[in-house]
Amino acid sequence: MAYTIALAGKGGVGKTTITGMLIKYLAEKTKSIILAVDADANSNLNEVLGVEIENTLGDIREQLENNESTQVIPPGVDKAAWTELQLSGALSEGSDFDLLVMGRTQGKGCYCFVNGLLTTQIQRYTNNYKYIVVDNEAGLEHMSRGILPKVDMLILVSDSSRRGVQAAGRIYELAQSLKLGAKEIKLIINRAPNGVAPEGALEEAKSYGLDILGVLPNNDEIFELDGEGKPTADVSMDNEFKKALYGLFDKLEFK
Ligand SMILES: Nc1ncnc2c1ncn2[C@@H]1O[C@H](COP(=O)(O)OP(=O)(O)OP(=O)(O)O)[C@@H](O)[C@H]1O
Ligand SMILES: [Mg+2]
Repeated sequence: MAYTIALAGKGGVGKTTITGMLIKYLAEKTKSIILAVDADANSNLNEVLGVEIENTLGDIREQLENNESTQVIPPGVDKAAWTELQLSGALSEGSDFDLLVMGRTQGKGCYCFVNGLLTTQIQRYTNNYKYIVVDNEAGLEHMSRGILPKVDMLILVSDSSRRGVQAAGRIYELAQSLKLGAKEIKLIINRAPNGVAPEGALEEAKSYGLDILGVLPNNDEIFELDGEGKPTADVSMDNEFKKALYGLFDKLEFK
């Protein structure tokens, strides 16, 4: 069974940046191909990793749902078999990871059949990997619907403001009420001025019982690379942010 690490936090705090580096870190450290899952409706993990997306699960779901009118599935072809084929085409391959993009969340109506198919396929896929890393949106949409496998570790990301940590605390409570099963839950405070978290943020973390894995500095190079559309996950090891983040990952003792 793959070990699943999910990242979550409110908008714009650095989840995707950290997820991208975690994928690279785990691939180097464990010498295995990592399954990267972009579970944010506004997907952009591929940009941080430097790969193009071909097809998302949302696209596949839509094609299945609209099949009556569009006939994308040739007559006589089984829906499950068709879905399986499409899913294998929906993985974007990097040098040391495969990226699966969930895409837009569903609209109105019941998608139980399609979700069921997707869930089965994803579970089949996930058995091929040692580590799965999932970039989420704050609401943990795909996790809550059970489409993605159970979470082993949840990494919450926050900026260094009190309200940022409060948002992380609420996601922590949400994760518990959803019974995601995460045995380890950690908080990373990102973009702290001079790499030091303000007292208010620390107090807030304490009030939720959040375990702080570490505090990361703001870093101009990361911001600039991202602005130029370059993959930040590939920044050199000289980068202070990357160095600090890898130090935090070392504490988690992945094998
Ligand atoms: N430590 C940092 N120093 C400077 N810039 C950073 C840092 N961490 C993240 N950023 C920048 O902040 C912006 C938002 O980061 P990112 O996309 O990783 O956040 P996110 O939480 O995934 O956002 P969203 O909620 O939109 O998915 C990006 O431009 C990114 O390069
Ligand atoms: Mg993001």
